[in-house]
Amino acid sequence: MLRDKHIILGITGGIAAYKSVQILRLLRKAGAEVQVVITPAGKEFITPVTLSALSGKPVVSEFFTANTGQWNSHVDLGLWADAMVIAPATASSLAKMATGVADNMLITTYLSAKCKVFAAPAMDLDMYRHPTTQRNLLTLQQDGVTLIEPADGYLASGLVGKGRMEEPEEIVRRMDEWFESRGELKGKKILITAGPTHEKLDPVRFIGNYSSGKMGFALAAECAARGAEVTLVAGPVQQNTPQGVRRVDVTSAREMHDVCVAEFPAMDAAIMCAAVADYAPESCSERKIKREKTGEMTLRLIPNPDIAAALGKIKTGNQRLIGFALETDNEQANALDKLRRKNLDFIVLNSLRDPQAGFGKDTNKVTILGADGREQPFPAKSKTLVAADIIDFTL
Ligand code: CTP
Repeated sequence: MLRDKHIILGITGGIAAYKSVQILRLLRKAGAEVQVVITPAGKEFITPVTLSALSGKPVVSEFFTANTGQWNSHVDLGLWADAMVIAPATASSLAKMATGVADNMLITTYLSAKCKVFAAPAMDLDMYRHPTTQRNLLTLQQDGVTLIEPADGYLASGLVGKGRMEEPEEIVRRMDEWFESRGELKGKKILITAGPTHEKLDPVRFIGNYSSGKMGFALAAECAARGAEVTLVAGPVQQNTPQGVRRVDVTSAREMHDVCVAEFPAMDAAIMCAAVADYAPESCSERKIKREKTGEMTLRLIPNPDIAAALGKIKTGNQRLIGFALETDNEQANALDKLRRKNLDFIVLNSLRDPQAGFGKDTNKVTILGADGREQPFPAKSKTLVAADIIDFTL
């Protein structure tokens, strides 16, 4: 999958830089064109001459090439690349990437790049464990960077623990796998619901919930990145539309239902990620409801349509239907009950009791249950990575 791909290999100042030579060789052997961009500290560990000779291209390190006065354009480089891999990625470079400190050619190139970015952290175990590093790693994951986690083992410091850069073969394998997954959903049409619904009471008030839409938007972004044609039916949320996604904004459950029922017959799959209000006020007042003198007030609510169940009824044998369950107790049993009731193929269970799952969080921890009896728990991850797991398992 790497044949003829344009890859930027970013090298920062860590002892693992000697392994970058092997990454470069493997990428070249796989048929990729590689441009090495190295930080000033990186050059202390490995010479640009070796890297130029193996890549067949002059190594880029400075904004200007001193003897020729040539300006190296980070923008052109960023646009040229199909993928960028920063290996090793030191704590300092990861921090600069996470905060946008563009003080060298590599970080400016990273900020200009529109392509997929991989980073393989390498540092001492205490630096890796430090809350600052962990925070930066989480930020980068949320920005869409794929981290190739360091392995456990002997570190250059003599200590033993997590921080050792992953082996070059594994780094290149992960990149290859990513390119392979890109076309995976080509030709597939996927409907995704996301966010809350708002059920209007009067011109200024509604009944709603805390759903941020992050999980559904992450799913839409990942499906689109894998080549699917995505229709994202979004309740009222503050989220940017992922690239290539067709977005239909709705407000109430009824509107979401009508759009989904109309769109579903043309789809290959639907992922029901929205937190749909189960009830709506029986009527919406045209005027602002005034405070009653008596103090108390009663609202009459009527049930909303169950969108997932409605799609479950019209689902054909070739279509997949995936739902979510957010439970506080009897999690497994409730989720399985929903799966059957709504005729779903899979249900993604997240527990509100888990501190890393739920509304507004950037992470999620899920277990996927299948109508075929399969059950797969996953560790807590960024919502982007959870989206990838859900797609791998269900589509
Ligand atoms: N769902 C839906 N339409 C509704 C309610 C829920 O499409 N009116 C979908 C959700 O998007 C989710 C799944 O059904 O994929 C389960 O949602 P949840 O709110 O957990 O289930 P409910 O059926 O509402 O059950 P309860 O509120 O009793 O837990």
